[in-house]
Amino acid sequence: MRAMVYRGPYKIRVEEKDIPAIEHPNDAIIRVTLAAICGSDLHLYHGLMPDTRIGHTFGHEFIGVVHEVGSSVQNLKVGDRVMVPFNIYCGSCWFCARGLYSNCHNVNANATAVGGIYGYSHTTGGYDGGQAEYVRVPFADVGPAKIPDWMSDEDAVLLTDATSTGYFGAQLGDISEGDTVVVFGAGPVGLVAAQSSWLMGAGRVIVVDHLDYRLEKARDFAHAETLNFAEYQDIVVELKKQTDYLGADVVIECVGAEADGNLLQHVAGAKLKMQGGSPVALNWAIDGARKGGTISVMGAYGPIPNAVKFGDALNKGLTLRMNQAPVKRQWPRLFEHIRNGYLKPSEMVTHRFPLEEIPEAYHVFSNKLDGCIKPLIVPSAA
Ligand SMILES: NC(=O)c1ccc[n+]([C@@H]2O[C@H](COP(=O)([O-])OP(=O)(O)OC[C@H]3O[C@@H](n4cnc5c(N)ncnc54)[C@H](O)[C@@H]3O)[C@@H](O)[C@H]2O)c1
Ligand SMILES: [Zn+2]
Ligand SMILES: [Zn+2]
Repeated sequence: MRAMVYRGPYKIRVEEKDIPAIEHPNDAIIRVTLAAICGSDLHLYHGLMPDTRIGHTFGHEFIGVVHEVGSSVQNLKVGDRVMVPFNIYCGSCWFCARGLYSNCHNVNANATAVGGIYGYSHTTGGYDGGQAEYVRVPFADVGPAKIPDWMSDEDAVLLTDATSTGYFGAQLGDISEGDTVVVFGAGPVGLVAAQSSWLMGAGRVIVVDHLDYRLEKARDFAHAETLNFAEYQDIVVELKKQTDYLGADVVIECVGAEADGNLLQHVAGAKLKMQGGSPVALNWAIDGARKGGTISVMGAYGPIPNAVKFGDALNKGLTLRMNQAPVKRQWPRLFEHIRNGYLKPSEMVTHRFPLEEIPEAYHVFSNKLDGCIKPLIVPSAA
């Protein structure tokens, strides 16, 4: 089969690999019909995540058709059209039993802090991902779900990560009626977080980024107010001005380890890797929230410490909430929101690349060229 393969930072290729085999009776092999590139893949692409091995296939946002099932699989049969959450999880450990699917204890021999994720380095288990023609899906009775007949492929693929994560980000914000919500980052995760904040009762939603074309999308798609942080000497002061000098009730951080906005932090974190990424957006969130407010962090960070303003967070009495999204937990409500037209994830898709052109897709998405918001990958066997 053809598969995206990592060859080192900024170097990816499409190469021939064996079609994965069933390794466990509860595995399924899925023929991928549509995949996406996530902002998280960019952290791998830039060499920022530890233990990203040469030869690894990325891709944790994908849908497909069941090609083969192991002998104990009961919920899926060959030919089913399925969506697969980015989390790999057992469904029965202490954490899974409490809905903490992204913290499953049984799927990642390399770490106890995080569970399994497809195509996301050996830090999350070393499972090959779905930017390929076929992918092995462990615990096939647990994660995947049949795609409802009425749902489009493009909505379904975005439910496997970006949409569920943005919604989860708003959920962790514990938004009360009338709250002012500030969202950092106008990528797919931030755009959905902004949209979802309205569904949860926000009175005002302000999206912050420095890419004007994405801020325009935040206004059209998520009906948010926008601020371009590059236009202000100090974005935190501007946020304070806009919120009666109190700060935001809720801040949702959808930027992560490669935040721009402070050259020193960016070089120390994202370039020299002296810390687990640049904490600029996180510190803006801490400074921009009002005392007693809540910060929900969806942006991804490396495991080593960051120069985070933790003392300020403590003194302000902030509630900090965060996790990798437990994707399938969000699906029942999200299915309804999509069916009723409240959320339209596929409107974020700007690009569709054949798998053979995936190096170009990473280049365009990484450099935010050509108005790129969300690129999809179409395998040739689809
Ligand atoms: N927790 C989870 O389960 C989960 C799931 C998916 C993605 N993520 C993470 O969420 C983050 C966003 O993902 P995405 O797909 O939307 O990525 P993306 O790269 O498309 O978007 C990130 C946006 O942040 C903007 N940005 C950079 N510095 C900023 C700053 N200081 N303030 C405000 N905006 C800034 C960028 O211009 C860009 O538009 C990534 O870190 C990704 O790894 C986490
Ligand atoms: Zn992702
Ligand atoms: Zn588990």
